[in-house]
Amino acid sequence: MTDLSARVLPPPPLMIGDVVVDPPILQAPMAGFTNAAFRQIVREFGGSGLQATEMVNARGFVWLDEHEAEHPDRLWGVAEEPRPLAVQIWDNQPETMAKVGRRLVEDYRVSVVDINFGCPVRQVTEKAHSGSYLLREPNRMYQIIEQLVAACAPTPVTAKIRLGCTRDKINCNEVARVVEDAGAAALTVHGRTAQDFFKGSADWERISEIKSHLRDIPLIGNGDLDSAEKVVEAFRRYDVDGVMIARACLGRPWLFAQAAAALRGEAVPSDPTLTEQRDCMLHHFRLVVDRFGEDKGTLLMRKYACCYAHGKRGARHFRTHVAKVSTAAEFYAVVEEYFPVD
Ligand SMILES: Cc1cc2nc3c(=O)[nH]c(=O)nc-3n(C[C@H](O)[C@H](O)[C@H](O)COP(=O)(O)O)c2cc1C
Repeated sequence: MTDLSARVLPPPPLMIGDVVVDPPILQAPMAGFTNAAFRQIVREFGGSGLQATEMVNARGFVWLDEHEAEHPDRLWGVAEEPRPLAVQIWDNQPETMAKVGRRLVEDYRVSVVDINFGCPVRQVTEKAHSGSYLLREPNRMYQIIEQLVAACAPTPVTAKIRLGCTRDKINCNEVARVVEDAGAAALTVHGRTAQDFFKGSADWERISEIKSHLRDIPLIGNGDLDSAEKVVEAFRRYDVDGVMIARACLGRPWLFAQAAAALRGEAVPSDPTLTEQRDCMLHHFRLVVDRFGEDKGTLLMRKYACCYAHGKRGARHFRTHVAKVSTAAEFYAVVEEYFPVD
C-alpha cells in the first residue's frame, strides 16, 4: 500500500493519454440526465475537469447509421461543445464498439471514449449481456478494449467498472489489470457491486486497493461524494488520481466549483441563494426547451426540477406540483408559487 500521509493537496492534474483533466474532478455519465443542457450548466459553474455524456448504445448507433437516420439524441451538442468531453458507449461486440469509437473520434472529435462496464440495469445486463455483466468475462472486456483502442488511437479509451457483479465475486483487482493490459488510458471505479445497485455505501478502501494493481494508468474513484469536504477526504485518505461525482451534482451543478476550491485550499464558495438556484433552474429549463421543444422539454425538466428542490424546505410540495406540469406556462407558474424561497 502506498503511504498517503505525505500527500499534498491540491492533487496534480490527471492525464488521460494526452488529455489534461484539471482539476481531477470528473462529472459522471448519467443516462437521462447528463445531456448537453446539463453539461452546459455544469461548465458555467466550472470545477469539473472532464464531463461525460449519457451512455450511448453502440449497436443502436450503427443501426441508425445504416438506416441513414439521425445520430442518437444522446449525442446532441457533442460535436460543438467545448473540450475536453468524454462520450460513453456500451455494448458487448468488440467490432461494433470499435466501429462506433472510430466514428466518435473522426466525426465528433471527442476527447475520450469511455466504456460502460458498470451498468447494473437488467435491460443492459441480462438482456444485452453488457455493462456490469461483462465483469464476469474479463477476456471479452479485453477484446472490446483492445479493438476500441486500436480504432480510436490516438484518442484515449477509458473504462468504468463496479467492484464486481456480486459481493461474493468481487474481481476489480483482476479486472483493473485486464483494463490496463488491453490499452485503456484510465480506470474509473464505482465502489459498489452490480448486485448492490445503490444500496449501502461505496467501499473506498476497495477502490484504493486497486491502485497497487495498476502500473501506470490513473485511477478515478466514484461513489457517494456529495460535498467539497468529502472530495478533499477522498484525495487525502485514498490512493486515487481523480474523483467522479454523479447523483449529488444533479440538483447542485455548482458542487464541482466548491470541491475544486476546497482542493486548492481556498474557502468553499457558499451555495447560491435560493433565488439564484431558481434562476439557474429556469436557465436550464430554457436550454432544454430550446432543444426539445416545449412539450418534451417540459416533461424532461420535471425530474431536474425535483433535483434542484431536493432537501429544501417545501420540496415535497414543489415536487407534487411540478410532477404534473406539461407546458412552459405551467412550469413557470409552479416555480413562482412553490419553489423554495430565501
Ligand atoms: C440516474 C442515473 C443514471 C446513470 N447512468 C449512468 C450511465 O449512463 N453510465 C454510467 O457509467 N453510470 C451511470 N450511472 C452511475 C453513475 O455514473 C455513478 O457511477 C453512480 O451514481 C455512483 O456515483 P454517485 O454516488 O456520485 O452517484 C448512473 C447513475 C444514476 C443515478
